[in-house]
Amino acid sequence: MSKQFEFDVIVIGSGAAGLSAALHLPPALQVAVLAKTPGEQHSSYWAQGGISAVLEPEDSIDQHTADTIAAGAGLCDESVVRLCAGAGRQCIDWLASLGMPFTLDRQEISDSGFHLTREGGHSRRRVVHAADATGKALQETLQAHVLERGNIEVFNQHIAIDLIHRQQKCVGLYALNRQDQHVDVLKARKIILATGGASKVYLYTSNPDGSTGDGIAMAWRAGCRVANMEFNQFHPTCLYHPEAKSFLITEAVRGEGGKLLLPNGDRFMPGFDERAELAPRDIVARAIDHEMKRLGIDCVYLDISHKSSAFIKSHFPTIYRRCLEFDIDITRQPIPVVPAAHYTCGGIMVDIDGRTDLENLYAVGEVACSGLHGANRMASNSLLECLVFARAAADKIAAEIDTDDILPPLARWDESQVTDSDEDIVVAHNWDELRRFMWDYVGIVRTNKRLERALHRTDLLKSEINEYYGNYKVSPDLLELRNLVVVAELIIRSALARKESRGLHFTLDYPETSDKYQSATILEPDRFKQSPAKLASI
Ligand code: FAD
Ligand code: SIN
Repeated sequence: MSKQFEFDVIVIGSGAAGLSAALHLPPALQVAVLAKTPGEQHSSYWAQGGISAVLEPEDSIDQHTADTIAAGAGLCDESVVRLCAGAGRQCIDWLASLGMPFTLDRQEISDSGFHLTREGGHSRRRVVHAADATGKALQETLQAHVLERGNIEVFNQHIAIDLIHRQQKCVGLYALNRQDQHVDVLKARKIILATGGASKVYLYTSNPDGSTGDGIAMAWRAGCRVANMEFNQFHPTCLYHPEAKSFLITEAVRGEGGKLLLPNGDRFMPGFDERAELAPRDIVARAIDHEMKRLGIDCVYLDISHKSSAFIKSHFPTIYRRCLEFDIDITRQPIPVVPAAHYTCGGIMVDIDGRTDLENLYAVGEVACSGLHGANRMASNSLLECLVFARAAADKIAAEIDTDDILPPLARWDESQVTDSDEDIVVAHNWDELRRFMWDYVGIVRTNKRLERALHRTDLLKSEINEYYGNYKVSPDLLELRNLVVVAELIIRSALARKESRGLHFTLDYPETSDKYQSATILEPDRFKQSPAKLASI
């Protein structure tokens, strides 16, 4: 039976951004946190390297800002970068106060007491972490506090379908309850999208299955602008093994001295960039792609075996154990690695309080484009952004919300015109097709011709998927596919619009960077269309 709910605030997403936002909201507000899967299937849980923050006297907010802007290839919004860099210490203090088990500096060199690691683009050690499983520690800490809060109700089997808006204000959403297969209506005075990124649009990714860009697609359908969707970050080093799905080898391995090697043992990164293995990710991923194509090899190798076994096991226990499951002993052998889609730098356009174009709708974390990352995100700046914008959005909501505001009645989901699907193969086929052509045509190296081909494919898929959506009952796979095709089109259209190469967007047709394109790519939908077509009138 379909149900109706009402809350002051609904947070869609229970990763680092969503849970932090919920915890920063005043306890007097009735808050719901929605997630389409339980906690371990979030990028936040999988984060390895850590959280960047200026904590040492020799480091500075200016330096963190300068490094981020250099990595972002001219497209970062300096005021946002400065804001985030300036808030790093406050975020780490907050997490420490919640009991987050950061790795401590046993040698007592650091002023803060935390062990700091180094990653690409950072001019110094600045990354606070919990061994190589920072995300797990972070999520477990946040989840424990959310469960203690009497004002927060968690729904972790609800997949949001679409936002509902009236008179240009967001007033609720429809969500499929995966347990009873009914679509519920949830009303709220404020909604925060914290649904993460869209890297699942590519065949190979470091992300969990749920990174399907749902929030971006929902906001786009509701009339919000999106920006910088062409900047998809490919992490240079994911484990290459036929049975190892989506396992990342943290950049901190290179930060602690790991070297990238060709199959013959030659080091190749110094030939591409003077920062070698610690160049920003776009450069390292492109260099690996270049070498793999040049030599016709399936992978390159990452070697940390020159470090002591004790050092490797204490700094990288998760990676050590996981690789051993595939008979790779990283204390003695190099690790086979390949690049994979990792992070969506673009997203829903937001201001410094996380506000979108639609009144009462906020977006925080990977789903948003805040201006922090520009054309390429620097390592470990994502969790920082989640924490900073979650607090900013919560503070803004606390200041603005009127809990006496009466929400309009909303129609139930209308299923009278649809039947059970009898051809799920169509959905499965389209998932595969989409992700393969995005990898082949819209990947690390692009051309106009490949992008045009991909756009043509999205046109065909879109009409097939919309027809399917109009005729059959919704399922999680269908809903995600419907969002993936929107995101794919946004990526391709943004890539076609940028007739230069910059940061993560590299095209053989325009290999140079051009001053003409030193601004964000902004896509604007028809503003404030009617809410989704399936809704019956009241
Ligand atoms: P997520 O953590 O992805 O959470 C998204 C949430 O939204 C989930 O709860 C999901 O169920 C929910 N959701 C999505 N769609 C719907 C829907 N339709 N309905 C209901 N719920 C929905 N960044 C760093 O800064 N440092 C690192 O060390 C680091 N390491 C990483 C390692 C890996 C392997 C990966 C994949 C990423 C890493 N990143 C790292 C990036 C960083 O982890 C993510 O960008 C960040 O965690 C995103 O957090 P989020 O809260 O925005 O989204
Ligand atoms: C990693 O640990 O290499 C990932 C860090 C990040 O994505 O910021």
